[in-house]
Amino acid sequence: MTAPTTSRPPAGPVPAWRADPYALALRTGRGPLFLRRTDGWLLPLEVERWCAGTDAADESVLSRCRGSVLDIGCGPGRLVAALAGRGRRALGIDVTPAAVTRTVRRGGTALCRSVFEPLPGERRWDTALLIDGNIGIGGDPTALLERTAHLLAPGGRLLVEAAAVEVDERCEVRLDDGRGTLGTPFPWARVGRRALLRHAEAAGWRAAGSWTLAGRHFAELAPAPPRDPGAPATLGSPTPLLPGTPRGPGAPATPGAAP
Ligand SMILES: C[S@@+](CC[C@H](N)C(=O)[O-])C[C@H]1O[C@@H](n2cnc3c(N)ncnc32)[C@H](O)[C@@H]1O
Repeated sequence: MTAPTTSRPPAGPVPAWRADPYALALRTGRGPLFLRRTDGWLLPLEVERWCAGTDAADESVLSRCRGSVLDIGCGPGRLVAALAGRGRRALGIDVTPAAVTRTVRRGGTALCRSVFEPLPGERRWDTALLIDGNIGIGGDPTALLERTAHLLAPGGRLLVEAAAVEVDERCEVRLDDGRGTLGTPFPWARVGRRALLRHAEAAGWRAAGSWTLAGRHFAELAPAPPRDPGAPATLGSPTPLLPGTPRGPGAPATPGAAP
């Protein structure tokens, strides 16, 4: 698959992620940067980690990548660049031109495009990635997972990072640099391990594996076999797909901090 290197901006209104606080943080490689919910709750964004090289948890994701890899919301591109450096076919897509620029500068291939727009290689990617909270893109995890299913080749795999806490939240957020600059509001979501599996099942995926490293939780999703119309629904099955995940409602939001 040939992956074009371009920074053509997406059509339509300027997406909120392109707002200055994020673009500036990517240019400098430094935070502080937060997602601010309307009630003032702040989710710190790990700009420095995203701009650094891969760590052990990232490597655990890369070691599970098969064939051609599409990194959805690649940010400054540490995963795409690492794959490219190993001779792998990898494309990052991101709506933020500064992210695409940084990815290309570090040796990756990237395209300035929303995951919800037409993409090269639809239905031909072997692996897709939603890492660093990117399951929140668009604010509707089931819709994002359905869209992602259309990007993968038959038998393709989706590697997804879940939130560190058991949460299932859709909200409106703004980018906040902690110094008074706020971006425009946009929809976002946070999804813990159990909620991820609920959304995945609703979108036609099944869990093919899961792991935790350095406090980060990941799942490998595979297309679910077509349902036998006569079979009982499995949603809410008592069999835990991800053993050890705490039960109970989503973690309460803590003003000013988030894991
Ligand atoms: C939480 S950050 C993750 C950063 C990234 N994974 C990294 O390694 O730095 C979310 C990223 O998704 C991008 N994004 C937001 N909406 C998007 C969309 N609809 N399609 C593609 N990328 C999107 C943002 O520009 C941002 O870079």
